[in-house]
Amino acid sequence: MTLPPKPEARADRVSLWGHLRAFRRDILSAQPARLYRAWMAEFRSPFFRSYLCNDPALVRRVLDQNPEAFPKSGRVTAGLRPLLGRSVFVTNGEEWLHQRRIIDPAFEGGRLREVFPAIWAAAEAAVARMEGGVVEIEPAASHVAADVIFRTLFSIPIEDRLAQAVFHAFQTYQRSAPILNLAAFLPLPGWFPHFHRRSTLRSAAEIRGLITRLTTDRATAIAAGTAPSDLATKIMTTPDPVTSQPFATEEMVDQVAIFFLAGHETSASALGWALYLLATHPEAQDRVAAEAAGLEPAFATLSTLRFTRDVFRETLRLYPPVPMLVRESLSEQEFRGRRVAKGAQVVISPWHLHRHERIWQNPDGFNPDRWTTAETKDASRDGYMPFSRGPRVCPGAGFAMLEGTLLLAHLLRSFRFEAMPNRVPVPVAHLTVRAKDGIWLRVSPRAPAGQESSIR
Ligand code: HEM
Repeated sequence: MTLPPKPEARADRVSLWGHLRAFRRDILSAQPARLYRAWMAEFRSPFFRSYLCNDPALVRRVLDQNPEAFPKSGRVTAGLRPLLGRSVFVTNGEEWLHQRRIIDPAFEGGRLREVFPAIWAAAEAAVARMEGGVVEIEPAASHVAADVIFRTLFSIPIEDRLAQAVFHAFQTYQRSAPILNLAAFLPLPGWFPHFHRRSTLRSAAEIRGLITRLTTDRATAIAAGTAPSDLATKIMTTPDPVTSQPFATEEMVDQVAIFFLAGHETSASALGWALYLLATHPEAQDRVAAEAAGLEPAFATLSTLRFTRDVFRETLRLYPPVPMLVRESLSEQEFRGRRVAKGAQVVISPWHLHRHERIWQNPDGFNPDRWTTAETKDASRDGYMPFSRGPRVCPGAGFAMLEGTLLLAHLLRSFRFEAMPNRVPVPVAHLTVRAKDGIWLRVSPRAPAGQESSIR
């Protein structure tokens, strides 16, 4: 069985210029091969040092046990400010705590049942849109992931005029935006100004203008008592239990911007890779299709999609949409006997942890069945964190697992996906882990035409 594609790692020793050139190409292939075996690596630049931590005890220290000592790195979040303002993704300290106290209740387990019908409707629409033949799958994945966000957050489908405008503005933004997390490695001083391309600033301003309209319209509907019961209404009507303050409009615009970005880019990346992995593993594909044959439009149907869920989990292991998380050390620390100076960049890399040779058996192989074994329980405790962990864990994790599983089941119930042998996708990190030249698959209807009429 051929292994799923992985970027070629660079040699373990390389000059600073070689390193920089590699980074400009891609942050994943710029990393040395030894990071799949090492517990820690230090990167030196004239202005600061970065530490990539694979040691599970260190990861726990940074993310779970002492997160206040390692806030989000300003080097990285500065690049996102024009779009995200002061959203929960970029803030720290008291401001961040206040935002999470309002946001978290909207995503609690029980509320997943309420978003199920909207995600089901988006999945049906994606099946109806899918064309046969050779298809570049990533745009289709982005389309349905954006549809899921519009339907669950604002109760509007992507066909809505305002939703269309936001979606297109995001696409433009993604094409011009800087590569996330690169700043943690670039050997520039912290005071070095962040230059944003004019096109990035323009599309960020356009997105924020459109989202402001959605948010103010919703505020009016809430005041009139006519607002639908969805995530936006829930978040906008929840006061912070500590300060009793709800989000002001501008604050809500910041949060909506991150829900679109974090919620649709990531899910689209995972869905694209999941379809590629199934296309290259036809036996697993048939097992998903067999499970999906029993799909019912009720929340309980999810408990029958065990293998499909494990396919999605295994996809998130091999292609974690967020490949690296970057924190900054607020004070001097000691990591594995080494002194870590104040201001050092601390990089936790789901990409390397998920394929770490000392944590996983067959780390580069696609094996969804591994998720039913006891070994995986241990390995995943130490080396699996597609949604991060600790207090800053992704609030949308449960939502994203539901969405990924349901979208896969819907698509596999209706279609067969085949890989193109001459088009092997090479993973690269943009805003999320994407394929360098897209993911191209041959799509054909699975069931005889008559049996598909109910879902088309
Ligand atoms: C497969 C899909 C997803 C993946 C892999 C994912 C992954 C992540 C990761 C790794 C982080 C932490 C980033 C860091 O600390 O630097 C994060 C944060 C976040 N995610 Fe997700 N996410 C997904 C879907 C979603 C969805 C559907 C939503 C909301 C609708 C969402 C909302 C957020 C927010 C608001 C944060 C910031 C949390 C904070 O900093 O306190 N994500 N996500």
